[in-house]
Amino acid sequence: MLTETLSHLHSLTRSFRPEVGIILGTGLAGLVADIDVEYEIAYEDIPHFVHSTVESHKGKLIFGRLAGKPVVCMQGRFHYYEGYSMKEITYPVRVMQALGIRNLLISNAAGGLNPAFSEADIMLITDHISLFLPDNPLFGKNTSGDRFPDMSEPYCPDLLEKARRIIREQGIGPVQEGVYVPVPGPQLETRAEYRLLRQLGADAVGMSTVPEVIVAVQLKIPVLAVSVITDMCIPETLKKAELQHILANAATAEPRMTLLFRELIKTLD
Ligand code: HPA
Repeated sequence: MLTETLSHLHSLTRSFRPEVGIILGTGLAGLVADIDVEYEIAYEDIPHFVHSTVESHKGKLIFGRLAGKPVVCMQGRFHYYEGYSMKEITYPVRVMQALGIRNLLISNAAGGLNPAFSEADIMLITDHISLFLPDNPLFGKNTSGDRFPDMSEPYCPDLLEKARRIIREQGIGPVQEGVYVPVPGPQLETRAEYRLLRQLGADAVGMSTVPEVIVAVQLKIPVLAVSVITDMCIPETLKKAELQHILANAATAEPRMTLLFRELIKTLD
């Protein structure tokens, strides 16, 4: 499969060799405006890619330069709730690795469980809780890396340190740090579920990212992942979730996230 996908992409993008992979989350696709796009390929035109079925996610693989560096960017990602397997939604990570990326940057929209957070905050993900996912991209025959990948540092400490420095130097505040817990979705959580997830030690909850991180860790690709807190999920003060509200907060935070990714990419070798 990988050979077929790669030969198709190579035939379209010729000698372009991306060094950084980027996966953009809900309402956070604006970073693409900063990319000097060289090639844009719709997911439906890529062999063995599934299709993005969510309206707020565009389904395109973008090859271009960001801050002078060759990048490959998923404008729109795949989610488990779309009915795909974890293997299918993480396939693009394998493709990006085969294309030659040396670092992976991921963004997502997430609900805030930590009462100290506010809407439109950015949170550097320092750790995650993957136990509640009903499927796993590494289930089954293993041909791509460690059978039991170490998860003591799923988020690259060096990338986190660089991100913290950029946040300080560029005055990109407010930025939080914390633990992300993925849920399968697509329904949002009940108050009882938010209470439970908070008690378990999570700071933010969302429906993505961790499957891709698990695969990237097995493939030994350093990852930085960032959540934009699009809605607060405090049981006592919970309001009805509205996609418009989530997208508006994503849009508010997006310029800060874009700045962080662009500056971070400048520091990568
Ligand atoms: N739960 C799950 N995913 C989310 C949420 C949430 O509250 N907010 C944004 N994505």
